[in-house]
Amino acid sequence: MSNFAQQKPLNIVAVSGGLNNPSKTESLVQAIIDELGEATPIHVHFIKFSEIGHLLGGAIYRNQLPEQIQADLAKLEAADALIVGTPVYRASFTGLFKHFFDFVEQTALVDVPVLLAASGGSDRHALVLEHQLRPLFSFFQAQTLPIGVYATDKDFSAEYTVKSEQLLDRIKLAVARALPVLEWAPAKGERAAAVKDKTEQAKQNLGINKLIEQEEVLPSAAVPSLDAAETRLHHKKPKQQVA
Ligand SMILES: Cc1cc2nc3c(=O)[nH]c(=O)nc-3n(C[C@H](O)[C@H](O)[C@H](O)COP(=O)(O)O)c2cc1C
Repeated sequence: MSNFAQQKPLNIVAVSGGLNNPSKTESLVQAIIDELGEATPIHVHFIKFSEIGHLLGGAIYRNQLPEQIQADLAKLEAADALIVGTPVYRASFTGLFKHFFDFVEQTALVDVPVLLAASGGSDRHALVLEHQLRPLFSFFQAQTLPIGVYATDKDFSAEYTVKSEQLLDRIKLAVARALPVLEWAPAKGERAAAVKDKTEQAKQNLGINKLIEQEEVLPSAAVPSLDAAETRLHHKKPKQQVA
């Protein structure tokens, strides 16, 4: 693996769907941010539903959202990687969490690594990561990372800080497994320019999306099979091998 310290910081957008303040989901996402920040240089924009949740519900179209949330969406669409967490409500993500992601331009997250997290009252809903969150980000053609993090009420202190060793170990594992993907991940610094037009269009077209199209994959030089994938997708001639 190359030396992360020499790289420019990854542009991470974190989302916590926790509506309460304090919020266990927010603490969980923060703990993941902290662990990732120990491993590699990151720049983080943290979108907290405890702050914006009450502003989301009234908007049907993206350009009806407050400027702050439109700016949050633009940052999310330009991120190198996402960390997303939601509380479990009625065995799924919250309605507002889904409402927020319904505003995201549908091709803006192609190939973007996403670390999934959730907090629930019960262990029995741990598979919310696999059955609710992962399919949502598969729709976006994002790269959901292999290890998600699920926490329950008993993992937190009375002040809602992460207290259980098992949860901290799981966070460590999730971040460790994320690092190789993040190392080659998407066009560090190039996504902002690449998705600018998409963001502008999404603001104008009132959220009514055209049929999803397969976009060109953003440049990631270290991925050996990318040319082959591009060739199949876009019927391009393979690049000449240099002898
Ligand atoms: C309306 C509502 C529905 C909930 N539904 C579930 C559920 O189906 N399964 C579960 O495990 N916990 C459920 N919970 C518990 C929350 O997921 C849990 O307490 C979570 O950690 C709260 O996160 P927060 O502190 O970020 O708000 C529900 C809580 C609320 C308020």
